[in-house]
Amino acid sequence: MVFVSLLSLSLINLSNATNLTSLVNLFIGTASGANGGSGGNVFPGAAVPHAMAKVGIDVSTTPRQAGYIHDNSSITGISLLHDEGTGGNTDGGYGVFPLFPFIGTCSNSSSVNRPECEPGIAARAALRAAGTDVASPGYFSTTFVSGIQIETTSTRRAGLIRFTFPASSNATNYVVVDLTNDLGRSFSGGTMSISSSGHVELGGTFLQSYGPSNYSVFACYDFDSPVLQAGTYQSANSSSPTVFNISLSSVNDMTLEFPFTSTVSPIQAGGLIAFNTSQLVARFGVSMISSSQACSNAVEEVLTTSDGLWNWDAIMAASNNEWEDVLSRVLIDVEKENSTIVELLYSSLYRASLVPANFTGENPYWNSPFPFFDAMFCSWDVFRTVHPLLSLTSPQEWSQIVNAYIDGWRNTGYIPECRANTKAGYVQGGSDGMPILGEFAVKYAAIADGLGVAMDDLYQALVDTAENTPPNWLTVGRQNTAWRTFDYIPTDWVDPSGSVGLPTREASRACEYALGDFAVRQAGLVLNKSQVDIEKYANRSMNFVNMWDPNVTSDGFSGFAQRRYQNGTFAFTDPVTCSPVDPIAHSCARGDDNDSGFYESSSWEMSFFAPHSVATLVRLMGGNLTFVDRVNNYFSKGYFTAGNEPSFNVPSIYHYAGRPDLSALRIRNVVFTDFGTQIGGIPGNDDSAAMAALLTFHLLGLYPVQTSTQLLIGSPFVSSYTLTNAVFNTSTTFTVSGFDSTSLVASPPSGSRVFVKSVTVNGVDTGSVCALDFSDVVGGGEIVIEVDGDAIAAASRGCGPAGLPYSLETGGF
Ligand SMILES: *[C@@H]1O[C@H](CO)[C@@H](O)[C@H](O)[C@H]1NC(C)=O
Ligand SMILES: *[C@@H]1O[C@H](CO)[C@@H](O)[C@H](O)[C@H]1NC(C)=O
Ligand SMILES: *[C@@H]1O[C@H](CO)[C@@H](O)[C@H](O)[C@H]1NC(C)=O
Ligand SMILES: *[C@@H]1O[C@H](CO)[C@@H](O)[C@H](O)[C@H]1NC(C)=O
Ligand SMILES: *[C@@H]1O[C@H](CO)[C@@H](O)[C@H](O)[C@H]1NC(C)=O
Ligand SMILES: *[C@@H]1O[C@H](CO)[C@@H](O)[C@H](O)[C@H]1NC(C)=O
Ligand SMILES: *[C@@H]1O[C@H](CO)[C@@H](O)[C@H](O)[C@H]1NC(C)=O
Ligand SMILES: *[C@@H]1O[C@H](CO)[C@@H](O)[C@H](O)[C@H]1NC(C)=O
Ligand SMILES: *[C@@H]1O[C@H](CO)[C@@H](O)[C@H](O)[C@H]1NC(C)=O
Ligand SMILES: *[C@@H]1O[C@H](CO)[C@@H](O)[C@H](O)[C@H]1NC(C)=O
Ligand SMILES: *[C@@H]1O[C@H](CO)[C@@H](O)[C@H](O)[C@H]1NC(C)=O
Ligand SMILES: *[C@@H]1O[C@H](CO)[C@@H](O)[C@H](O)[C@H]1NC(C)=O
Repeated sequence: MVFVSLLSLSLINLSNATNLTSLVNLFIGTASGANGGSGGNVFPGAAVPHAMAKVGIDVSTTPRQAGYIHDNSSITGISLLHDEGTGGNTDGGYGVFPLFPFIGTCSNSSSVNRPECEPGIAARAALRAAGTDVASPGYFSTTFVSGIQIETTSTRRAGLIRFTFPASSNATNYVVVDLTNDLGRSFSGGTMSISSSGHVELGGTFLQSYGPSNYSVFACYDFDSPVLQAGTYQSANSSSPTVFNISLSSVNDMTLEFPFTSTVSPIQAGGLIAFNTSQLVARFGVSMISSSQACSNAVEEVLTTSDGLWNWDAIMAASNNEWEDVLSRVLIDVEKENSTIVELLYSSLYRASLVPANFTGENPYWNSPFPFFDAMFCSWDVFRTVHPLLSLTSPQEWSQIVNAYIDGWRNTGYIPECRANTKAGYVQGGSDGMPILGEFAVKYAAIADGLGVAMDDLYQALVDTAENTPPNWLTVGRQNTAWRTFDYIPTDWVDPSGSVGLPTREASRACEYALGDFAVRQAGLVLNKSQVDIEKYANRSMNFVNMWDPNVTSDGFSGFAQRRYQNGTFAFTDPVTCSPVDPIAHSCARGDDNDSGFYESSSWEMSFFAPHSVATLVRLMGGNLTFVDRVNNYFSKGYFTAGNEPSFNVPSIYHYAGRPDLSALRIRNVVFTDFGTQIGGIPGNDDSAAMAALLTFHLLGLYPVQTSTQLLIGSPFVSSYTLTNAVFNTSTTFTVSGFDSTSLVASPPSGSRVFVKSVTVNGVDTGSVCALDFSDVVGGGEIVIEVDGDAIAAASRGCGPAGLPYSLETGGF
């Protein structure tokens, strides 16, 4: 349903308030990650918001985490499901059941793969004609050098793929329906049936993108044109996967069956369909349950005309309308604002609603009245920015996603961390669904009933995940035995309970466990749980200090988070280790070879991580002045890892030393140095849109304090915007008084009005230029952010009379 608030339209230039989708650039972040490229791994194909079906073309080269790369590599097909922005397996995840069109001649035979008949993956390498990749929300198209065009548009679990063959050709047109090649080439069994009329049903088992398990997936295809012949191809034998037996018929139905094997099979097999029409539309459905459900999803979701024909235009318009609704929740005057900022903002908002993916009705594991979501890949990536952004403008969607987290606990005992391809993926640090649930509690508990979220269950999910230790915390949960016994995460400790997991990343995990415990505290407080519980989790959330070695120094700064043995002695790691300028090659990933104690981050960076009590860090680091020097040093020495999540909180951390002016300048620098509208315009993996949501917050001049109702105030990159919240039924307009476009550069010139001088909410001065409350941001009415260019006044202003943003140590929350 399209929801555009009339109130917000009245506040913004009416003539420009339509078609925001045309402002989205889907190719930002699609540059190749090979050879030092940015590797945004963005998915640019067709999808509705939070879609299960993410239809797009797949390239033959790696890395290709989302299937697509915006370069001149050849493509191997168009497939139905993809990840968005994730790292992990460079071959990519999903990419199942691709179609591939070609013009040629195929006949029953058992012979080597001939150029004129190309069903196998090795021969399917079609170059795209330069510049023919076209994408907009809900639509993707590309054209081969041979002249064949592929287009697609989609619904949540279904869609259409259109092939247009060059008019001059009068050879036979074929479409391959590939059973065995996902992006990871991880086929380990499956079946296909194909009728002579071209009805195809498929099911296969593949390895998940980022985790130890395999999963099963199903699809259904039908075609709108008369079929000349249909049939199967398969490797003649498994040791020669490029030699094919082909069986084509105009009357017989055929099947393929490959029993599940515990090792990945190299076999090439699938369907082959011959047509003599020059334009052909395939309708598909996908399912995680069965191929018949995939077929019913297609029938149910693909709209038809009054003549019963598949209605391409209606599907595309519906998809476009859904996106228009999502994008219009952050409304700006697109004519008036800087066009680069407009493009960055709407492209980011678009990606930030691609995942998590709505797999409701597709849960293979338990029956439940609650929603089921996939691509929570991983909560570690998205808890910092994606969920806080959803909390502002997508409360209905967010409630469903939160319900899926709670339902994961209800049925497995733990909050899911990194569900990918319906299976538990790897835990990266803490159980970072905890801050997500804590944040929902503090923001929506009062109206949770109406949103269908059971708050007692949410709280119990938090407590269980905070207290219990799974037998193996590799894919879910935390090492709570250690955390509870030591009040830190000891190195080289064997858990007497027999519970196992990957015992690395001790310091990073402790920082995240602490925030997770703060989430329990926050939920307990808002839900009126016992004072004993509230204090217990508040106290435990301060245990990050137990990883703090005051004696470690680096660049003249003292006190850094470190690994620690069970006898209390610290194990030294140079704080520069695993930073971008680490002079020694270290493994900084999850594995046993990581001996730094930090995960994808350095001690320089993680020592800034305690969003719920930054005042403690300021104290440990020696007070405001040293803290500011230390943050400056972190940036100037190159320790800032713009392309990964542990860095997200640092550019605005000057706020906690009373220097929001320095945060404003730093964020200008980060945005214009690390982000852009080009294909390499993201500093690292988009990571299920964690980067997109981060950039959105920066541009709006807000930054969320995770698991709280506070947002830090920055200096917006637009002169005005309106946020709409459909649950509270509010529109809140932010206006920057004195907005100065000369500040839209990496280093604003002297006098440029980039510093926040005052903030009023509906005419009342808040007394803080550092923080706003969620209730104001979604409260409706008008927030005026006054900016000026007096750097000296800004430096001495501090946060204003209302004081610093909250910290558990100094109060407020
Ligand atoms: C909006 O823009 C999209 C993409 O450019 C286009 O497909 C669509 O037709 C436009 N819709 C309207 C209502 O103009
Ligand atoms: C593809 O692009 C690369 C890098 O720009 C270039 O070196 C290569 O020659 C191109 N290949 C083709 C087939 O155009
Ligand atoms: C069409 O097919 C006929 C018969 O096979 C052939 O003679 C003719 O050259 C073909 N035309 C084109 C444009 O390929
Ligand atoms: C392929 O065809 C050859 C020759 O007819 C036959 O020996 C072989 O078993 C067939 N392979 C499969 C997988 O059907
Ligand atoms: C597999 O097929 C290839 C090509 O036809 C043939 O050379 C080879 O001997 C076959 N291997 C087996 C084990 O049948
Ligand atoms: C090809 O083989 C299939 C299956 O063996 C058979 O049903 C079909 O009639 C054959 N087609 C032709 C054109 O010989
Ligand atoms: C797939 O999962 C099954 C059941 O968990 C397991 O037995 C099998 O080894 C797995 N296969 C692969 C290829 O990992
Ligand atoms: C998810 O799908 C269900 C079932 O169609 C639907 O009711 C719900 O609104 C969808 N939610 C989102 C966020 O897409
Ligand atoms: C730090 O160094 C001092 C002086 O050598 C020593 O007394 C103290 O125990 C050390 N602290 C830690 C935590 O190692
Ligand atoms: C603590 O344990 C570590 C690792 O076993 C050891 O190297 C260190 O000497 C111990 N410290 C003390 C004070 O026993
Ligand atoms: C740091 O600065 C803030 C804001 O100016 C101030 O409230 C606070 O007391 C200062 N802290 C210390 C330890 O000086
Ligand atoms: C928008 O801002 C960018 C970055 O400062 C600048 O390069 C560009 O010229 C501006 N665009 C317009 C239309 O002013």
